[in-house]
Amino acid sequence: MRMSLRRGLRLVLASIMVVFVMLNLHVLYNTPESETASVLVDKRDSNAAVFPLAQAWGDTSRQDGEAHQPVHDGQVRTTARLSLVIPSKPSSTSSPGLKNATEAKKPRYNKYINVNDTEALKSEVIRINTEQFVHNLDQFGLSLGSDSLVIIIQTHNRPEHLRMLLDSMRKVKDISKVLLIVSHDVYSHQLNDLVEAVEFCPMMQIFFPFSQQIYSKEFPGEHPNDCPRNAKRAEAIKSKCNNAEHPDKYGHYREAKYCQAKHHWIWKLQHVFEEIHILKNYEGNIMLLEDDYFLSEDILFSTFMLRGLKERDCPDCRMLVLGNYDKNQNYAINGAKAERAYWISSKHNMGMTFNRSLWLEIKKCAKEFCSFDDYNWDWTLQHLSMKCIHEKIRLLVMKASRIFHLGECGMHKKSKNCDPQAKVKEIETKLAQNYKHLYPNMVAVAGDSRIKLRDPKPNGGWGDIRDHNMCLKHFKNASITQVR
Ligand SMILES: *[C@@H]1O[C@H](CO)[C@@H](O)[C@H](O)[C@H]1NC(C)=O
Ligand SMILES: *[C@@H]1O[C@H](CO)[C@@H](O)[C@H](O)[C@H]1NC(C)=O
Ligand SMILES: *[C@@H]1O[C@H](CO)[C@@H](O)[C@H](O)[C@H]1NC(C)=O
Ligand SMILES: *[C@@H]1O[C@H](CO)[C@@H](O)[C@H](O)[C@H]1NC(C)=O
Repeated sequence: MRMSLRRGLRLVLASIMVVFVMLNLHVLYNTPESETASVLVDKRDSNAAVFPLAQAWGDTSRQDGEAHQPVHDGQVRTTARLSLVIPSKPSSTSSPGLKNATEAKKPRYNKYINVNDTEALKSEVIRINTEQFVHNLDQFGLSLGSDSLVIIIQTHNRPEHLRMLLDSMRKVKDISKVLLIVSHDVYSHQLNDLVEAVEFCPMMQIFFPFSQQIYSKEFPGEHPNDCPRNAKRAEAIKSKCNNAEHPDKYGHYREAKYCQAKHHWIWKLQHVFEEIHILKNYEGNIMLLEDDYFLSEDILFSTFMLRGLKERDCPDCRMLVLGNYDKNQNYAINGAKAERAYWISSKHNMGMTFNRSLWLEIKKCAKEFCSFDDYNWDWTLQHLSMKCIHEKIRLLVMKASRIFHLGECGMHKKSKNCDPQAKVKEIETKLAQNYKHLYPNMVAVAGDSRIKLRDPKPNGGWGDIRDHNMCLKHFKNASITQVR
């Protein structure tokens, strides 16, 4: 008697668990994304019910010839609002392998410019930023809507790193649907050739117009009469050097080379959201990358999944983060998990993905951003999140990274063992070994970060009033007309 009672209870318990799991699956499959996705699949594949999200994704990209058509025709994705559709040219998509030699790409930058001629560079950069030419449109067309992604790479002068990033990007599934924007602060033929060779998606180059390269002997570069970093304030004032009254909070004067990245970072956001014509009404996400990253091939797929998860499990999240810096990446355990957290510069600055609404929040905090005495944009952003942006920036971050940081030889660290090539090998091996854990067909929140938040103590390097003022101008002004 006792035995059968226990068995009965066990049966009931088991049934409850089964029902519970089924209910959970049901909830997931009913997020807006999956609804539209299953419509796509049901027409084609009766197995679709098993993994509708993953299959729908694969399906759109497997249409080969059709894949370059505007991706989201109204019937399939009723939730997507389009702001721009540029169809591809059928002539070039029908035989992509057979390139007519006369149609071969003409370089869009001036190959003959002397990069030491700052006046020539100044106008060349204005020309390119004004022209806003999109490469590869004929081949891929472009469709920008509320569920699109624009990837922005901020690059300095490390062609060997940038090449590795672009090589990893070429292998990313569905990359042809993305608009890639490469933002430079160095004009070099080598970099331009490298970037113009991008053949896997629509691509635009933009140039930070206030670079040290262009302003090599004046602010924001280094002026001959600028105060030396370590000058004492009293001496500086006596010697009447340029910024004598404005050392940083640690008593040091500005170093141009460290200020550039923060200016570039904010200029680039302003330029993308406010100046680029084809993005005027863009409602979708942007993803911020740096030139020393390496991408996993399922990064877009993961972004797509994470976005669905945000709608379901974190409606107040304003950012998706695709990368993390954890030493040990366990794809078997964490491949399909995300963590909910508030933005911390050292943890969440890799692959930040957000839309115009967060940009508008940052813009409201322009004064705070530009006067916070820290030359690191990410440290500054954390300060904004803590002290200025309404309700702190909440986010979802992948627990198994889809981005890897190659830049051991970065701006600050002078490490001996900085062989990016070896690092790429290591990452590729790791990803290959874990291939079956990529493209997770369901991503779940695995918990909330319990790291204590604090308003970061500024590191200095941003005390010069000229930096504050120029920074404010990036926010305010049409940057194209600003350069004179
Ligand atoms: C290549 O394209 C040019 C211009 O588009 C055209 O005049 C020429 O006839 C084409 N050549 C071939 C071999 O198709
Ligand atoms: C530009 O300047 C650098 C260093 O001053 C020099 O090595 C280089 O040859 C110059 N390039 C040209 C094209 O004049
Ligand atoms: C943009 O992001 C915000 C959250 O930051 C969200 O509320 C809004 O719906 C998003 N807009 C679109 C078009 O997805
Ligand atoms: C933008 O910059 C130009 C030139 O520096 C200046 O004349 C103009 O007043 C500025 N506009 C705004 C809105 O700040």
